[in-house]
Amino acid sequence: MDDLSFPNSLEEHWMPFTANREFKKDPRLVVKSSGVHLWDHRGGKILDGSSGLFCVPAGHGRTEIADAVHAQLLVNDYTAPFQSSHPGSFELARKITAITPEDINHVFFTNSGSESIDTALKIVMAYHRARGEGQRTRFVSRDRAYHGVNMGGVSLAGMVKNRETFTSVMPNVVCLRHTMIGDEPYLRGQPEKGVELADDLERFAQTYGGSTIAACFVEPIAGSTGCLVPPKGYLERLREICDAHGILLVFDEVITGFGRLGTPFAADAFGVVPDIMTMAKALTNGCQPMGAVGVKDMVYETVTEASPQSAIEFFHGYTYSGHPAACAAGIATQDIYKNEGLFDKAAELSEYFLDKMFELESLDKVVGIRGYGLMAGIDLKPEGAPGAFGTALQKELFWNGLHVKFTGDTGILAPQFIATRENIDSMVDILRESLT
Ligand SMILES: Cc1ncc(COP(=O)(O)O)c(C=O)c1O
Repeated sequence: MDDLSFPNSLEEHWMPFTANREFKKDPRLVVKSSGVHLWDHRGGKILDGSSGLFCVPAGHGRTEIADAVHAQLLVNDYTAPFQSSHPGSFELARKITAITPEDINHVFFTNSGSESIDTALKIVMAYHRARGEGQRTRFVSRDRAYHGVNMGGVSLAGMVKNRETFTSVMPNVVCLRHTMIGDEPYLRGQPEKGVELADDLERFAQTYGGSTIAACFVEPIAGSTGCLVPPKGYLERLREICDAHGILLVFDEVITGFGRLGTPFAADAFGVVPDIMTMAKALTNGCQPMGAVGVKDMVYETVTEASPQSAIEFFHGYTYSGHPAACAAGIATQDIYKNEGLFDKAAELSEYFLDKMFELESLDKVVGIRGYGLMAGIDLKPEGAPGAFGTALQKELFWNGLHVKFTGDTGILAPQFIATRENIDSMVDILRESLT
């Protein structure tokens, strides 16, 4: 590659979740992407080991999606989404609900996972108020949860760095214990033990009164904190407790949605249907910012039927909710998943991927591995301050030809569904070499 563009100045862009000053001294810019690869500004070829941020499972540079967005922008670039819409938003909602679990037949569009979470919080509040249960003001989340960065999501979050600086706008949040099984650092699939961790929810119901709790938010697999897979029976137990107390169960499927576990959603993989599910990331294969919230019929009907026919039922929405270009990208993406059988491909590749990942168990610097579907977390022995080794290794991996998303000293691998076994081999080889 010789057409390498480099900006005149790096100073003006304040980068998200980045050590800005350090990055600008030693920048890592991606200038091209195609298939499972990225190219850096020095011309190096990099395997995309985390599908970007879990959002590009069908591979980079999909012309079908680019063409659909281009065509849409030429025909109708923008439609005000309040009291009007365009055909694509209905078509995409139909395609999404064709694969969501039964009864989840309504979709509200947002522009990100964070907005999906805050939208879900508001839907929960509107639902209980419409039923005359406005006293349900308490929310349950979980330690080590990541529910995005907007103020509602930060209030729910269980990651200290994401919330210690910011005042929680929702004081009424209590956290379940996380599902990291301490004495079993190497865990493939669902842990056999730990179902009783779900009983924290029952304890909260006893302590605060079940009728004061509005909803329980969980990531079915906690992704950003290192692929914490739910113990067998855990999600089922949460479902039972929610049902017993009229609490809504919300699955944050922003990472697990659209095939990451080899099924359309984690709800399918674990056989537990939530009342509300949040989605984003793979919805458009990362090509347009878009999120969505899926709700059961009874949630939609309760909220909409509480108002007169001519009244706005839910006072919420974004200027770019269901943007025509994002809908076009979403429709093209969903067609690719279906036509290429990519969720099945993810399921087929999972065993091989996990076999290879667990080979790294023998390395001195590795202290834990977990995995399910096409996602794995690998914990590294900290060196110095927490996260220092993870940050250094992430950089080294980049220059060694592998992109991996890190949270502290944990790397989270999530290959693309179109990856080959050879791509998985290269990924694990680069990890091994960089760690030894
Ligand atoms: C489970 C979960 N929820 C919400 C979000 C926030 O999504 P976004 O970064 O699109 O706002 C993320 C992002 O990683 C996530 O993993």
